[in-house]
Amino acid sequence: MRAHTTKSTHKSSNRTTQRASPKATRTKKNISEDVILLLTEDHKKVQKIFKDFAKSKDKMDEETKEQMVRTCCQELTVHTTVEEEIFYPAMREALGASDLMEEAAIEHDSAKQLISQLQNMRPDDERYDATFKVLGEYVNHHIKEEQDKMFPKAKKAKLDMLSLAEEVVRRKEELLGEETDETRQGLMS
Ligand SMILES: [Fe+2]
Ligand SMILES: [Fe+2]
Repeated sequence: MRAHTTKSTHKSSNRTTQRASPKATRTKKNISEDVILLLTEDHKKVQKIFKDFAKSKDKMDEETKEQMVRTCCQELTVHTTVEEEIFYPAMREALGASDLMEEAAIEHDSAKQLISQLQNMRPDDERYDATFKVLGEYVNHHIKEEQDKMFPKAKKAKLDMLSLAEEVVRRKEELLGEETDETRQGLMS
């Protein structure tokens, strides 16, 4: 059974059917319209941070370094959360038991462990740069698996990319709002 096929009964599907030509919008590659484009944009964003960090880490002060690592970890945390809550369950439903999805979950867990280590480290820790570098290597491998193997399977399974994209956008807004609240509380305490 596929919950996210093109005939999805998702509650926001009315919005998509009201559009005059969703297909035309999609050919313009509007990233807010397609879950795969949204997730790929996130991938590009973190890959750029890892690249910039590797290039400039020796010229950066500790504060800039920490800010860069914090931004990247926040992006990754929000991204993995929406994948785990929205995209992966839809994939699991479409594919059934799948080694690919189990591997992806394990890769997320490994990334989370390194993120948590980084969050408990200071930029002057001798392992700080190396931990961020290894996180980048893990993440790059994982992104390649998603883009080369998982996303083609999602397209083939005809998931409802538009409904999933709407759910992802909504959840990301919520998560980013929560993070802002936590930061605010942290600053006030
Ligand atoms: Fe992922
Ligand atoms: Fe991803």
